[in-house]
Amino acid sequence: MTWCIAVQSGRVNPAVQKKEFIMTQEQWTAVDHYLQDHLIAPDPILEAALQASVEAGLPAINVAPNQGKLLMLLAQLTGATRILEIGTLGGYSTLWLARALPADGKIVTLELDPHHAQVAQANFERAGVAHQMDLRLGSALDSLAQIAQEGQPPFDVVFIDADKANMPDYFKWSLQLTHPAGLIIMDNVVRSGNVIDANSEDVNVQGVRRLMTLLTSESRVTVTAVQTVGSKGYDGFALARVNP
Ligand code: SAH
Ligand code: DHB
Ligand code: MG
Repeated sequence: MTWCIAVQSGRVNPAVQKKEFIMTQEQWTAVDHYLQDHLIAPDPILEAALQASVEAGLPAINVAPNQGKLLMLLAQLTGATRILEIGTLGGYSTLWLARALPADGKIVTLELDPHHAQVAQANFERAGVAHQMDLRLGSALDSLAQIAQEGQPPFDVVFIDADKANMPDYFKWSLQLTHPAGLIIMDNVVRSGNVIDANSEDVNVQGVRRLMTLLTSESRVTVTAVQTVGSKGYDGFALARVNP
């Protein structure tokens, strides 16, 4: 289990400094459930998609419900009609994003694993949104090159959530394929805090670190990142708005 001591040297918010406290995974999960119970109405379609994913043996690495709802809100705030997702899994995050779309909106979602794609497609059909989905099977880098070649209209929102080693390239493609004032959302940019370990042998951590280096000198976006805890552990999101 992850243990995190929320007291550090240097300047600390007095609310945090007041007492030393230790947060556990158990607590993060309990609070996530509390927030979800209060803020996220039971949703048979989304729950069925998760259940089908579990039954099909997919890894439980989908966004949490409160994170999925955050994706929906961000897409709503952007007024998105075209969304690109890199990393579909069973389509749980995709279904949340679809909630933000108008009737003629579209999501292009990219998945390498045929089994994952099959579960996602069935989930889209059960949810009645398959007509809005363009699920592309294959390596996301190949699909992105293909999409660029097709000359599709640009996307309003991109959610990058596939293999972390390729995050820098996913970001570069996303920037190329996104509207001015569009939003690029990147999941898993903290990796239990391992993002600060320059010597990490984890290719995922090194992928995120190369992404961060790229973002440092990328003047075409306005970007930040926040750490998160919850049922999925200790991780984080980065948000980049494409400068108009
Ligand atoms: N966005 C999903 C979770 C995605 S998990 C959700 O929140 O519900 C990451 C997914 O990326 C997995 O399904 C994995 O098969 C896929 N993936 C891994 N490498 C990939 C690649 N090179 N191209 C496309 N998809 C890839
Ligand atoms: C993993 C991938 C994710 O996209 C995520 O949100 C959590 C974990 C993983 O591959 O372990
Ligand atoms: Mg993720």
